[in-house]
Amino acid sequence: MSDPLRFLTSLGQALSATGLYRPGHPARERAVDQAWEQLAGLQKFDPEPVFSFLEDEVLYRQQALRDFKAWDWARRLARAGVQRVEFEREVSREDLSDFLGEIQQRITAGTADSSEAREMRRGPIRYGLVSIRGANADIVVETADSEVAPYTLEDEIEAVGWIHAEVRDTETLPLAEANAVVRSLSLAMHSQSRMLMPLLQLKAYDQYTTTHATNVSVLAMALAEFIGLSPKDVREFGVAGLLHDLGKVRVPREILIKPGALTAQEVAVLRKHPVDGARLILARERKLDLAATVAYEHHIMINGLGYPRFRYERETHFASRLVHLCDVFDALCTARPYRDAWATEMALAYIEERSGTDFESQLAEAFTGMMRLWSHQRVSVAPGTASIP
Ligand SMILES: [Fe+2]
Ligand SMILES: [Fe+2]
Repeated sequence: MSDPLRFLTSLGQALSATGLYRPGHPARERAVDQAWEQLAGLQKFDPEPVFSFLEDEVLYRQQALRDFKAWDWARRLARAGVQRVEFEREVSREDLSDFLGEIQQRITAGTADSSEAREMRRGPIRYGLVSIRGANADIVVETADSEVAPYTLEDEIEAVGWIHAEVRDTETLPLAEANAVVRSLSLAMHSQSRMLMPLLQLKAYDQYTTTHATNVSVLAMALAEFIGLSPKDVREFGVAGLLHDLGKVRVPREILIKPGALTAQEVAVLRKHPVDGARLILARERKLDLAATVAYEHHIMINGLGYPRFRYERETHFASRLVHLCDVFDALCTARPYRDAWATEMALAYIEERSGTDFESQLAEAFTGMMRLWSHQRVSVAPGTASIP
């Protein structure tokens, strides 16, 4: 891979990390270090590199980079008003880090304000809107071995792994990062011209908890959006989906990945996760009561069966019923140590069969309808073997 390609790859990773972690977090600082090193490498032979980010094209100087066609970050940058970035000589690490923070904020804030200055500057980095007239995009630069996949969600899944490790080790929920993961998933779902459902494929059994949390968050947001909930509710359902199994950080790994049937004692340990999850969430943030409720209720079916048992029978929260459905679907469609993954249609048939007993019928109908209608919007994402704690 040539230097501009390497630099862009590291720039995308640094942008992800800047969106996912607070300043000073090792993952964020490491990603900025790498982008800065790559930039320095590039500037050795091109002291003032210029990149343009168009919807479906990335230009390095006047040359289209074929490998970065449909690069997700190009769209996000273009839509945030960062269509052109020019680096002057001697960009310090701090310049680059501040620049990343600034553009990540613009991305998070939504589309660019057209009344804003067309050009901004962060020290020796100039960026902003660009007139693409004259850009000669027909020269194709050398390519890397493979096309750049629009999604890997590797950074997101790594952040979820880190969140779980924090909760396990410190008993505190890093709320800012959890919100950032949901924001980032929501961006991935909406950055194309149509809605997308990026669902992760499990690579290794011990990544189940992180993969599953991410998928349930995506499914819960998709369904909430599909039935017409407000963007704020959609986001809250996404957080609730992400955190629904948080209590599993207290369940020993041997039980979680045990291939055979669990003993009665192991079942009892596993079944504590809804209560533990709700407690962990509330200990951190009273305002997350929806996520806490969902964590507590997500194994209760509409016929009242499931666990934990209520002392007095009552209905579960709508969000709990919605997450329950997404939870079961993702569990069925994921390979477990003791069985293969189910095909989507088989899992949908299961949901239809139990509509009205396990699942609320209107939700079951909406979910199966959505999955069939959006079958082309589902993208299967195979995350790399990023190290997950
Ligand atoms: Fe659960
Ligand atoms: Fe679950």
